Amino acid sequence: MTDALDPAQAEVVLGRTTATAEEACRFEQVGDPFILVIFGATGDLTARMLIPALTALCAGGHLPDSFAVVGASRTELTDDSFRERMRQAAVEYGSLAPGLWETLAPRLRYLQVHYDDPASFTVLSDTLDALATAQSLGGNRIFYLAVPPTAYEAIAINLANAGLAEETAGYARLVIEKPFGRDLETARVLEAALHTRFSEHQIFRIDHYLAKETVQNILMLRFANALFEPLWNRRYVDYVSILAAESIGVEHRASYYDHFGVLRDMFQNHMMQLLSLCAIEPPSLFEADLVRDEKTKVFRALRPFDPRNLAEQCVLGQYASGLCGGARAPAYLDEAGVPGDSTTPTFAAMQVRLDNWRWQGVPFHLISGKRLAEKRTEITVQFKPVPYSMFRELFGDHIQANRLILRIQPDEQVSLTFQAKAPGPMCLRSVTMNFNYYQGYQGAALTAYAKVLLDCMLGDQTLFWRQDGVELCWKFLTPLLDTPATDRLYLYKSGTWGPQEAGKFISAHGLTP
Ligand code: BG6
Repeated sequence: MTDALDPAQAEVVLGRTTATAEEACRFEQVGDPFILVIFGATGDLTARMLIPALTALCAGGHLPDSFAVVGASRTELTDDSFRERMRQAAVEYGSLAPGLWETLAPRLRYLQVHYDDPASFTVLSDTLDALATAQSLGGNRIFYLAVPPTAYEAIAINLANAGLAEETAGYARLVIEKPFGRDLETARVLEAALHTRFSEHQIFRIDHYLAKETVQNILMLRFANALFEPLWNRRYVDYVSILAAESIGVEHRASYYDHFGVLRDMFQNHMMQLLSLCAIEPPSLFEADLVRDEKTKVFRALRPFDPRNLAEQCVLGQYASGLCGGARAPAYLDEAGVPGDSTTPTFAAMQVRLDNWRWQGVPFHLISGKRLAEKRTEITVQFKPVPYSMFRELFGDHIQANRLILRIQPDEQVSLTFQAKAPGPMCLRSVTMNFNYYQGYQGAALTAYAKVLLDCMLGDQTLFWRQDGVELCWKFLTPLLDTPATDRLYLYKSGTWGPQEAGKFISAHGLTP
């Protein structure tokens, strides 16, 4: 594929038939005023992700003329000191165009809130009312819980008791981040707590992977092309391999990570979403519940792990010391905050089967880990070899099969490997067509967090988890979570692709164990 689109062509290629490219490809804008309340406003997530996302939305002209952001947390701060913290965060973790901060700063407020104190929420409610009246902000409210999950329940209860879950004067949306519980049981407890106060349409469960550009592209690639879908099934696909490799270690998050490990941190959410996007049937419309209905069908089709044979189906690993990016990296057990006898896995590779018509007999390999050789997230669709080689007298029976790789990050691209005659003598060679995702595109793109914030404001739940999916995925992983990892936990050197014992998964993905 080439980059040789001139602007006139690009209009045809990028646009819908009924509109010019410019009209068709514009991000939606938020029309109605709102107040966004960020709990955990002095925390890391707010500084690193939410404030840069807000400034990007503001810079891109996505926000309405009237809106306000109220930072809420336990720390005592003035409006001005909160603004200054947020300005620094915007500079450090995002980019601040000249004049932008002057537009955003007056819309920021701060309120000290104790999450388990009902009186704090009465004050919050009064503050929001006063702000709305003073600035004609109407009754729309978004409550973003950028706090540890242990605080979700108290905040939801106190919001509801203060009347802030009601939707009489506008919408009331609750935004939460994974983890949604620690297992099926705790996910259900959390859900019960939220659902007695908020309805499903009010709850936005973020999985930032879903808002990555190239993850959104999976459905476009599959269902906006006639070319791939007829081959996307057990007749032509040998296996699918999904890799989410990270080069970083546990960093400063040991207290969270050591209780969760890779299965809860990456598989129950991001990996399951990637799997579902590869496997779903085409929804009749790209609309939140229709898309999520199809994902639910995939999750229902997951073949339960056979508890007698877990070691075959899932290999777990934990990183030992090694060289990562040229620097010495410590073992997981030597990281600050990790108990010296921890058996928390930082790597997992598993084989998953879907019991349905389309995917019967096709293994899905899921691999994810920390401190691996490089940061790389990609989906490999390995096609079956040709059924018969008419070239066997020239090159033998083996002809390399086609392979489609969807690189999610970094270097976002789609590559297709196929066979071609080599110039010159009668020889076959494997060649690869690459499409770089940003090639030929000069417009704006949103970060994952800007996209999820925008969708919350627009009320579009397509890129968010629905509770049925959350529970089905916890249920699927339960046998792995319930069985002690000790006898199938293998050490791997930091900077490699994982333990030798996972070699069959790693080499099937085209990597060297
Ligand atoms: C988070 C996990 O959800 O995703 C982290 O909690 C992980 O452990 C991160 O590092 C990976 O996200 P990304 O966008 O860097 O691939």
